[in-house]
Amino acid sequence: MNIKTVKYIKSCVSLKDCPSTNFPEFAFIGRSNVGKSSLINALVYQKIAHTSSTPGKTQTLNFYLINEKWYLVDLPGYGYAKTSQSTRKQLTKIINEYLIYRKQLYMAFILIDSTIPPQKIDLDFINNCGQKQIPLAIVMTKIDKEKKLIVEKNRKAFIDELSKSWEILPPIFMTSSTKKIGIEELLNYINNILQTS
Ligand code: GTP
Ligand code: MG
Repeated sequence: MNIKTVKYIKSCVSLKDCPSTNFPEFAFIGRSNVGKSSLINALVYQKIAHTSSTPGKTQTLNFYLINEKWYLVDLPGYGYAKTSQSTRKQLTKIINEYLIYRKQLYMAFILIDSTIPPQKIDLDFINNCGQKQIPLAIVMTKIDKEKKLIVEKNRKAFIDELSKSWEILPPIFMTSSTKKIGIEELLNYINNILQTS
């Protein structure tokens, strides 16, 4: 898929604040520092999402209209320990409401850091989404950052963990925003969904 236009539409703090359009929505979510902003920027070939060394920046649902056809939705990170408990509770509420009730949500991409072994918080999040039948795909990030063997070991361990509760595994993409690996594949995946819907 070629990215022709990217338009920032709005940032929302609740479900009822979200655009009342019917464009298909593809959401991106993951723990703080997983590489979400970098991935989003790599996908749309421009700097729209803020990359920073201060984690937990995104505290709203940010809507970007792509090619006048679909929304890329940048969701706040989950489980960031350094935000206050009330902020975290509020963010969890927004994220859950959006994922569970948003009819326009076509796919949630859950980002996982490929340089570390499977983390409970990520597995819990994915399993919860699965139970609620939220359509999801997994995107492993930063595959350029570690030795191939380690990335492969982490990927296998992750699959093993998921297999404990998933009969059919969700799709798993291996990506690097820095080296632009897996980006085209992800865009094609979105494109296929758009074309068959
Ligand atoms: P917050 O919004 O702050 O929670 O983080 P985020 O998930 O948006 O992560 P961000 O894209 O800001 O990246 C976090 C750090 O990881 C930055 O230092 C990035 O440069 C680095 N990073 C992100 N993607 C990659 C990648 O593909 N490869 C490598 N080597 N580093 C990456
Ligand atoms: Mg970010």
